[in-house]
Amino acid sequence: MRIIIAQDYQELSDRASRIIVGLITEKPDAVLGLATGSTPIGLYQKLIEKYREKVLSFEKIKTFNLDEYYGLSPEHPQSYHYFMRKQLFDHVDIKPESINIPRGVGAEPEVLCQEYNEKLKTANIDLQVLGIGNNGHIGFNEPGTPFDRETFVVELAAETREANKRFFSSIDEVPRHAITMGIKNIMEAKKILLLASGVSKAPAIKRLIYGPISEEFPASVLKNHPDVTVILDREAASMIK
Ligand code: GLP
Repeated sequence: MRIIIAQDYQELSDRASRIIVGLITEKPDAVLGLATGSTPIGLYQKLIEKYREKVLSFEKIKTFNLDEYYGLSPEHPQSYHYFMRKQLFDHVDIKPESINIPRGVGAEPEVLCQEYNEKLKTANIDLQVLGIGNNGHIGFNEPGTPFDRETFVVELAAETREANKRFFSSIDEVPRHAITMGIKNIMEAKKILLLASGVSKAPAIKRLIYGPISEEFPASVLKNHPDVTVILDREAASMIK
């Protein structure tokens, strides 16, 4: 893993955007794996700026998102469909048909998983953006998820629902299930870019870097991937030497 330590969140976002701008410049029809959460918002803002400055276009770009809450429609303000539209897609020239996000409604969860997994089989993701949960989750692959899992329905860990309740009016409204790319799908991306910001992520980053590869800490699987870049701000890096 290549580790970059930025001074602050702005620099982290800027460095991440430069990697993606570089990729799109080289390959205008690149396939991007995208993530939600608060961490990549700064990156998406930078990409919107670059689009406005005409440095890049999303016209030929295809995207695949990691996950979606089960039971939330694309119009629900806490759905990841909605998040992606507001944070990125509404502001750039991506074609609606090039956007792929697991559906959270419309069929039984197993059917939705199978449908998304089929799409991923031919996706050929060039670069997957990841955040990290405090418990080491990537996408919604919670501790204990087998590394060979493909898209599946996950029961969210209590700590994940707790961490994400800030976006909902109460904990009871936080969905109990989500549909997520599995670790196997994530590992198929050619390159991975993991971002972590803030002191609350410092213990997870310490464990990622110094801990063993174990299904108990899902992000540790990334040590088996040949091309991973981790960008941290100083706070997230505060427990590593
Ligand atoms: C969510 C998402 C993850 C994200 C993580 C961290 O549960 N499913 O993809 O990486 O939480 O979120 P944040 O960036 O807000 O800390």
